[in-house]
Amino acid sequence: MAKKITFLGIETSCDETAAAIISENDNGTANILSNIVSSQIEEHKKFGGVVPELAARAHLENIEYIINTAFKESKISINELDGVAATAGPGLIVCLTVGLNIGKSIAAFSNKPFIGVNHLEGHALSPGLEKKIKFPYLLLLISGGHSQFLIVKDVNKYEQLGTTIDDALGEAFDKTAKMLNLGYPGGPSVEKFAKLGDKNFFKLPEPIINKAGCNLSFAGLKTAVLRESKKINGENNLKYNLAASFQNTINKILYKKTKVAVEMFREKTKKENFQLIVAGGVAANESIRKNLSNLSKKIGFKIIFPKVKYCGDNAAMIAWAGIKRFKKNLLNELNIPARSRWPLDKDAPFMKGPGLKL
Ligand code: KG4
Ligand code: ZN
Repeated sequence: MAKKITFLGIETSCDETAAAIISENDNGTANILSNIVSSQIEEHKKFGGVVPELAARAHLENIEYIINTAFKESKISINELDGVAATAGPGLIVCLTVGLNIGKSIAAFSNKPFIGVNHLEGHALSPGLEKKIKFPYLLLLISGGHSQFLIVKDVNKYEQLGTTIDDALGEAFDKTAKMLNLGYPGGPSVEKFAKLGDKNFFKLPEPIINKAGCNLSFAGLKTAVLRESKKINGENNLKYNLAASFQNTINKILYKKTKVAVEMFREKTKKENFQLIVAGGVAANESIRKNLSNLSKKIGFKIIFPKVKYCGDNAAMIAWAGIKRFKKNLLNELNIPARSRWPLDKDAPFMKGPGLKL
């Protein structure tokens, strides 16, 4: 019988302070012993976005309590761990450093292996927290900092099919909420107020919809929302119409681009039957879930959405990625640095900035 592996995971890459203790069951599924997340919504609300220095200070204030609570809830002691995993990037350096350093310290004094996890790999492997998933699968990762289509071939093996050439999708939601004064955090508030509006009221642009493969672009859409928002004088029904039209445009873009990504995945892997996993904070959006589920029925693939609590940032996915890397002996030295940029596919072209050819 395979030995159970138990890891502490720590996540502080942005505005969630999180710690979790996860073990892998004999049959390869996850056993979530504890999963503690403290969100900093109140700290950042009045600024309408994450303020890095404030986020780092809040991580420092909370991290010890969060880790202690994770241990208490799990009823596991440090000695029983097989290793420690902490997010090493990508993210805000001042924030990453808090969790990464405390993770290294725990590993050092307990003499356990340490793994610096790529936050994106955490999201990519997160569906494994709920059920066993077969490689390869297609991943649509939509979060506050990233929007990409990837082939997940195995742990540590990724091929990027497309990415955003400007804003991330979560960022577009957050900025729309800010422009319309809908409150913070942006994504959930746009979703809530979109339900009250007419999604066909505004005709908004769908940037690069018919070109550039499954690469994505949201900057032009954001500018159009800004332009329209200036004309509506805070009138509530128009605001809701604009939120609904924005979300509807996002859905049209995702529908088309996911279709392209599915074709690319089938072409590259020669697999007709496969799973598309939609992960990251924006994957919590119900209208996006419905929209992509419709596509999956139409062109015949299986679609999986992690539970909402595993879509947003959490440390369960970091501990889980740690376990998966540990099993492949992908350990790190304690001098592994925090990284603000860290693509999963290191050979993928850099798709931002002037001179970009599509
Ligand atoms: O994965 P995540 O928690 O953090 C990053 O790694 O970035 O994603 C956060 C993003 C934020 O931009 C937030 O507004 C967005 O996910 N989000 C949503 C929803 N819930 C969270 N966007 C649209 N609809 C939602 N229901
Ligand atoms: Zn994330």
